[in-house]
Amino acid sequence: MDTPHPSTLTVQLPGRSYPIHFPDAGLAAAGALIAEALPDADRCLVVADARVAELHGESLTRSLKAAGLGYHLATFAPGETSKTLETAEQLWQAAAAMRLDRRGLVVALGGGVCGDLAGFVAACWMRGVRMVQIPTTLLAMVDSSVGGKTGVNSAAGKNLIGAFHQPSLVIMDTTILASMEQREYAAGLAEVVKYGVIEDADFFAWQEAQAAALVARDPQVVAQAVYRSCAIKAAHVEADEFEQGIRAHLNYGHTFGHALEGSTAYRRYLHGEAVAIGMNMAAAAAEALGFCADKHLLPRQEALLRALGLPLVHRLGPDPAGELADLAARTALDKKVSAGRQRFVLPRCLGEVAVVTDPDPTAIAAGFAAYASTEASALTGDS
Ligand code: GLY
Repeated sequence: MDTPHPSTLTVQLPGRSYPIHFPDAGLAAAGALIAEALPDADRCLVVADARVAELHGESLTRSLKAAGLGYHLATFAPGETSKTLETAEQLWQAAAAMRLDRRGLVVALGGGVCGDLAGFVAACWMRGVRMVQIPTTLLAMVDSSVGGKTGVNSAAGKNLIGAFHQPSLVIMDTTILASMEQREYAAGLAEVVKYGVIEDADFFAWQEAQAAALVARDPQVVAQAVYRSCAIKAAHVEADEFEQGIRAHLNYGHTFGHALEGSTAYRRYLHGEAVAIGMNMAAAAAEALGFCADKHLLPRQEALLRALGLPLVHRLGPDPAGELADLAARTALDKKVSAGRQRFVLPRCLGEVAVVTDPDPTAIAAGFAAYASTEASALTGDS
């Protein structure tokens, strides 16, 4: 992993393979890369939240213009609350105003909210126009910009309205990560750790060795981490685009994490923080089940998450027993429940996980309890 990574990675899918570019020139190269990959494209609806548009909108639109592409930059208010049909409708109106037809593109410049929203807008506009993902957060680079999941939230729940719509290309400018807020950056690292646990013990060991450099955002080390994470994500998407099997492994830590996010009304944790605690809970549940044979997995995972500045433990309030029961009940509602059966992604050893259907509920409860505490401490990330 210490040699420089190639500048392009391809996601191989029948009839819709696409490149993930890591251009040396970063965002400045975006226009030329789009024009080269999609020579018939004439105009772009660029979607960004207002903050990202202020930081990076001009660099991107300058490069589109230089490449001869027309554009309109449409912005929305930052945050998950914008990921709605109402915002999508405003973006479709913007698409209509600029006469975006099937030669046009939607370009998502931003984090996971932007990519999901803009991807959904592209999936529906004129029954599907092409889209380009330009992620600006670590989480979006290593997860949501690759794989084609798009959608919006609604009263029925998060991400329940959506479509699979693969991008035509993804452009990674990892230098953008230097300007990310520390907490949000660290939350993205949780997904990087996930890839090591689910698929690649060597990548996990590399992260242990490079933890300080990852925290310090050493550009070479961050670029390697993003590249390797994308390669693992791409392999899962190629094998199982519509999540009928192995793609579900990407949900390691997420069933526990979603319960934590839901029980705290999505206010306490960033998604990656809940996933970090959720991975500890999943590994503890695997141990309680006798499923995980590797006694070193849990302490190593915990130590790496700690070194990366992530919370490890969920802080409970005045009714710990009630809260733990509520958390367990929430896993029964998780979207990984299929035909009334609960499915958990649990580790067997470092680099290997499996989906376990209807595990013993006492082991799941033990997983929650092992990483929940009434004490406020550094482990909970409380300040
Ligand atoms: N974020 C998990 C997936 O794309 O399948």
